[in-house]
Amino acid sequence: MKLFTNKKKLQKEIKNINNIGFVPTMGSLHKGHENLIKKSVRESKKTIVSIFVNPKQFDNKEDFKNYPKSYKNDIKILKRLRVNYLYKPHYNDVYKFKTKNKIFLDRFSNKLCGQYRKGHFRGVINIVNRLLEITKPKKIFLGNKDFQQLILIKKHIRKNKISTKVIPCKTIRDKNFVAYSSRLKKLKNYEKTNLIKIIKVLKNYKKNLILKKVNHNFFKIKNKLLFLGAKKVDYVEIIDSKTLKKPKKNNTKFNLFFAFYIGKIRLIDNF
Ligand code: PAF
Repeated sequence: MKLFTNKKKLQKEIKNINNIGFVPTMGSLHKGHENLIKKSVRESKKTIVSIFVNPKQFDNKEDFKNYPKSYKNDIKILKRLRVNYLYKPHYNDVYKFKTKNKIFLDRFSNKLCGQYRKGHFRGVINIVNRLLEITKPKKIFLGNKDFQQLILIKKHIRKNKISTKVIPCKTIRDKNFVAYSSRLKKLKNYEKTNLIKIIKVLKNYKKNLILKKVNHNFFKIKNKLLFLGAKKVDYVEIIDSKTLKKPKKNNTKFNLFFAFYIGKIRLIDNF
């Protein structure tokens, strides 16, 4: 695997490769990332993974400072998965150039996490657009766990007529149905136990919504999650992932989207 911290050097290396798979990350890699990378390695001639903890997508300085880092282990994973190129830029390398495309933020950015993390999605689209302009991949591999991010990147790509295809990848979960996430590494043991209980309750809640045993009531489910150890619940919403709207009356094809805090750690998921 070749490491690049300079975009010009990376661009020189890849200029004649026409089937590049790209996996953007903020490092602290886990099984979810591994799934994206494996898919890219299978489907592309060469795979680029980026590691950059993007300050512009954090609405809280502490959160940015405390974002988990495990560079040595990341390198091991990337080598094991036979990634061709790692792009690990410094701030100026990604931010000190004029972009060709304009940031497009679809109005879906105002829903779910957009209501609680001011500037977050603008920051995400900004960095992903820059990384796409640098690497010009055929495909970008993104996880369904961050569904709102995935949709907004897709809409930005379409609006700017960027010739990169978004490949959505399934969420990888542990035996307790908890989705792998870098932030989980920060949880204390008792918090992890609470999280497992919360996910179990949410899974059951979705089942009961489908069976129409209950109607969605945010305040009721929020209180249950608080009782089980969540510190704060931003949202629990049901959304049809095709229309991005509330499901029609008898439509049972929806996903439950949620965001809550356990201690200082904010977790999001949907299923
Ligand atoms: O999902 C992430 O890890 C980040 O939002 C991304 C896509 C790497 C942009 O910084």
